[in-house]
Amino acid sequence: MDEHAPRAAEPDVDVVLLGATGFTGRLAAERLAVLQQRASADGRTFPVWAVAGRDRGRLEDVVASLPPCDPAPEVLAGVDVHDDESLTRLAVRTRVLLNAVGPYTETAPAVIGACVRAGAHYADLSGELPLLRRVVDGFHERARAAGCQVVQLAGWEALPPDLVALHACRAATGAAPGSGAREPVPPCSGWT
Ligand SMILES: NC(=O)c1ccc[n+]([C@@H]2O[C@H](COP(=O)([O-])OP(=O)(O)OC[C@H]3O[C@@H](n4cnc5c(N)ncnc54)[C@H](OP(=O)(O)O)[C@@H]3O)[C@@H](O)[C@H]2O)c1
Repeated sequence: MDEHAPRAAEPDVDVVLLGATGFTGRLAAERLAVLQQRASADGRTFPVWAVAGRDRGRLEDVVASLPPCDPAPEVLAGVDVHDDESLTRLAVRTRVLLNAVGPYTETAPAVIGACVRAGAHYADLSGELPLLRRVVDGFHERARAAGCQVVQLAGWEALPPDLVALHACRAATGAAPGSGAREPVPPCSGWT
């Protein structure tokens, strides 16, 4: 049984890259263009993607600078993370929103809220742990009900804590280096 609420309208874009004019956004846009080129050379279909942000001219410059890809990503301008209406208009159009606009602590909750309301999946590269706590507390149940995933910490900043957690699991379970933790870590006596 599908327990998720249906989306109000079928999105016409698979992936939107919000903040495509920034340093990280440009790198992500380039990568998408290269992947699209490869897919097209191999005769594979590639997700329909778009770049989004505040200023049409800056977004068009980004598209013009990309490795040639056909079709070129659509430009969705007039999206400001401080403007809920523009976020909602964007979120309903896409299946997945990649958010490269920071600072995330200040701006991500509004973008995530728009995605969850629209039922769009969301990913960013935030590294602010208190924000993650707020997002889990504020959005987990709603995202689940909407059938969408909210993925934060999808940048390199996730690596050090992940490695520390892996090392701790290995040390606690006696697993060999190079392997994952073999067994679930047993609770220590005295832990509450
Ligand atoms: N965790 C990691 O590993 C990692 C790595 C790199 C970056 N980051 C984080 O990723 C974020 C982006 O970093 P960056 O270096 O790419 O930043 P950046 O070069 O300053 O780019 C910021 C982007 O946000 C857009 N933007 C700013 N204010 C906006 C608003 N009100 N509405 C809509 N768009 C807005 C800018 O668009 P305009 O053209 O309209 O100004 C631009 O596209 C930062 O929060 C950074 O800390 C994390």
